[in-house]
Amino acid sequence: MSGDTHGGAELAGFDALMPGPTGRPLRDFPEPPALANHGPARVIALCNQKGGVGKTTTTISLGAALAEYGRKVLVIDFDPQGALSAGLGVPSHDVPTVYDLLLGRETDTRKAVQATATPNLHIIPANIDLSAAEVHLVNEVAREQILARVLRPILDDYDVVLIDCQPSLGLLTVNALTAAHGVLIPLECEYFALRGVALLVETIDKVRDRLNPAVQLDGILATMYDARTLHSREVLERVVEVFGEKVLETVIGRTVKFPDASVAGAPITTFAPDHPAAGAYRQLARELIARGQVA
Ligand SMILES: Nc1ncnc2c1ncn2[C@@H]1O[C@H](COP(=O)(O)OP(=O)(O)O)[C@@H](O)[C@H]1O
Ligand SMILES: [Mg+2]
Repeated sequence: MSGDTHGGAELAGFDALMPGPTGRPLRDFPEPPALANHGPARVIALCNQKGGVGKTTTTISLGAALAEYGRKVLVIDFDPQGALSAGLGVPSHDVPTVYDLLLGRETDTRKAVQATATPNLHIIPANIDLSAAEVHLVNEVAREQILARVLRPILDDYDVVLIDCQPSLGLLTVNALTAAHGVLIPLECEYFALRGVALLVETIDKVRDRLNPAVQLDGILATMYDARTLHSREVLERVVEVFGEKVLETVIGRTVKFPDASVAGAPITTFAPDHPAAGAYRQLARELIARGQVA
């Protein structure tokens, strides 16, 4: 578990003495000590209104890596596409989903929680029904706070809750930001990666002002980084210029192992446990623990 420490950077052939892809020296984050007590959970929303940037992949892989370190992890599928549920191989039809919780059709949050094949990793699934939520909730009292209210009774059961947001800044995402302590923004290392991020940061600021004073931007995670291409390096350089220390040192390399793992319905950490991509997400888990953003 501790051998493949430099994750995405290792993919790119970096060596431990050289600066990492973010321009800072590559540090190794210590193996986190086991937790003596669990909960209450810190809630982290994975947000970016651009699709295909690695939100779902990061939710699955980071969740599984934190679970390997003995953290009790709950992931929430908050995208009607249901890719998180499929990626973890759990049923999302004919079972209570997050939609039933939001609408009050299921009032016991625990009844919507499912175990996954990964110990310590639980999920609340979603399916296409969730696409009707924005319309159904629009006249609800405190409609932005519904997810926060639904999660409250189970926060003590977990160390961390990860919310996999849909690619939009609509009411569901505002619910996720209102329920969250921190926000993690995955950014694909491609041209136009930064387009829209200012609007996302503005949305987080508004939610902090009006609904949830606690929410903060935990970090920007560079994904799908390919050190062989000049533009990947240029994009990452620009992201660091704009966001500085908010850019996490861990960078996720581009590899076909991720789509392969989602087809298999398993996290990369069990699908290809020795692949550097699994190591990269373990490093991300250790970095977030070292930053104090996860217990
Ligand atoms: N680091 C990566 N390298 C290569 N492909 C990736 C990587 N991360 C994610 N993918 C693939 O890219 C696609 C979009 O990723 P996904 O996590 O679903 O993004 P989002 O949830 O932001 O829409 C998926 O097919 C996924 O398997
Ligand atoms: Mg997704």
